[in-house]
Amino acid sequence: EKSGFEHFMLKEIHEQPNAISDTYRGRMLVKKGIIKMAGVDDNIERIANAKRIIIVACGTSWHAGLVAEYIFEDIARIPVEVEYASEFRYRNPVITENDVVIAISQSGETADTMAAIKLAKEKGAFTFGVCNVVGSSISRETHAGAYTHAGPEIGVASTKAFTTQITVLTLMALKLGKFKGTISNSDFQFHLQEMERIPEKVMKALKSDELIQKIAYTYKDAPNCLYLGRGYNFPVALEGALKLKEISYIHAEGYPAAEMKHGPIALIDEQMPVVVIATKKGHYEKVVSNIQEIKSRKGKIIAVVTEGDGEVRELADHVIEVPETIESLTPLLTTIPLQLLSYHIAVMLGKNVDQPRNLAKSVTVE
Ligand code: F6R
Repeated sequence: EKSGFEHFMLKEIHEQPNAISDTYRGRMLVKKGIIKMAGVDDNIERIANAKRIIIVACGTSWHAGLVAEYIFEDIARIPVEVEYASEFRYRNPVITENDVVIAISQSGETADTMAAIKLAKEKGAFTFGVCNVVGSSISRETHAGAYTHAGPEIGVASTKAFTTQITVLTLMALKLGKFKGTISNSDFQFHLQEMERIPEKVMKALKSDELIQKIAYTYKDAPNCLYLGRGYNFPVALEGALKLKEISYIHAEGYPAAEMKHGPIALIDEQMPVVVIATKKGHYEKVVSNIQEIKSRKGKIIAVVTEGDGEVRELADHVIEVPETIESLTPLLTTIPLQLLSYHIAVMLGKNVDQPRNLAKSVTVE
């Protein structure tokens, strides 16, 4: 049931404010200043004392893992590695009993992710699942876990699963940080308050839809597109590029903005649209100078900026605003316009948005 939306993907994009609040509801008790997550509470010593956290996943879930790496290291001060499940399982990885291996999977059925978890268990690691589908194979195979509560995701291109995965992993990092004392009480409290405002800010971000349709129309015939971001928004750049590739079949690549001068900058000419995430928090000035580099090579700049931004507006061909929040939560907002951009381009090109060619919702073979 598409509830009046033309496609499941669009419906699921618009469900994100509710999906995110469903994910933290009952877990995040803002007034009491606590986070309750049974799967973490019951194993808090084991997880908090991990020498290392290894995150295994594929595709969009792997991108959520990359965002989580920044959050876990920043807030809980636990070293994190993020691995493609398919590479991890076949490369004789070093895993010990002091490791915690987190699998992220919307479907909970991805064959490579499942195999990675089995391998980690054999080697004695503690395994934790972040799945959306209740009772799925990965959720059953792991020692503990936390569901994303995003509701069914039907569109093949993952949208609300991604933002709810980030939500769950953020709560987990905050909880561990509080337990370990690596985040101050006031900072912890501030994060909870800001998280509680995210659904309303996502709703605001969704209001750029008309502007994004115009941008989509301008670039729909581009053969290539670059996506750049730094810090917490580097994985968002990867995710934006994946969304465009999978549903519009336009070749797109995501890069950390600073890597541009190590190769991809050679691609930039007046034909090349470059989507840059340039929110105020984080490495704003550095991103601004990256934008200048693109501009001097005549690339077309589509910038995702913080509400009220003036500096990037001067330089960019198009700006899409998202509300302000703390840096670690910006991916929950900056992802939204990129989802809409790929959606509208794909629709304008007449592609089958909900069921792109060659793709399956659940990849149960390796
Ligand atoms: C992208 C997409 C895929 C999945 C990947 C992992 O939009 O849908 O890249 O993210 O196949 O799937 P799960 O999360 O079910 O393990």
